[in-house]
Amino acid sequence: MIETSRIEKRPGIMVAFDMEDVPSAIRLAEELSAADGNFAIKIGRPLEMQTGKEVISKVRDATDLPIVYDGKIADIPYISAKIAEIAYGAGADAVIMHAFVGADVMREVVNLGMGDVITVIEMTHPGSVEYLGHFSEKLIRKTSEIGVDGIVLPATRPERVSALSGLLNGDSDSETYIISPGIHAQGAEPGDAIVNGSDYEVVGRAIYQSEDPKESAEQIYRQAISRLGGV
Ligand code: C5P
Repeated sequence: MIETSRIEKRPGIMVAFDMEDVPSAIRLAEELSAADGNFAIKIGRPLEMQTGKEVISKVRDATDLPIVYDGKIADIPYISAKIAEIAYGAGADAVIMHAFVGADVMREVVNLGMGDVITVIEMTHPGSVEYLGHFSEKLIRKTSEIGVDGIVLPATRPERVSALSGLLNGDSDSETYIISPGIHAQGAEPGDAIVNGSDYEVVGRAIYQSEDPKESAEQIYRQAISRLGGV
């Protein structure tokens, strides 16, 4: 069984591995292991579609950093749990699923007990406010009740991160971590989400498409952390 809660609730950068070639993913995983900062890796569908679950195992073999499988799972309970089980079995420490599919689906995945569960509350793109955004408060209360480990809030709307992070378990001692995509390629600046209560800023293109991904990751980490003051 995979060790649980390897993702610490403290400020860091979750690097989105959305590149489409496996060797560069392995290389970046190795480089991030030696990088200065608090990093986690998020494997999305574009990379997964290259080889299937094997890429999760390959990245697992290349690093001890936490690995999140971002399948944005949104199916019936049986299928959602099956997808999550395959990802955990391949080496993922956490899976990302949608919260809007309902409490029964979230419970089924949480009850596997194989790793962390992160639920999408709001997304970064403008269309997220059309429908999803109307239910955020309700979704957060439900995820807290069910006991998910992390939630996704948009760095592109820091005011939402600020307002919604305060709802987690109704207090500031919540152990539930927040991850927030949207840095650089989608317009937010490093630190925008962290200063508003998020723990990990998710960064994809600005790192894996840069000339020196390790250096970019370290630089973005430093920029984000410096916004908290002190470092
Ligand atoms: O390249 P970029 O930094 O924009 O990548 C953002 C990553 O975060 C992508 O992997 C995308 O799937 C993910 N994501 C997002 N918005 C969400 C949830 C995940 O952009 N609400």
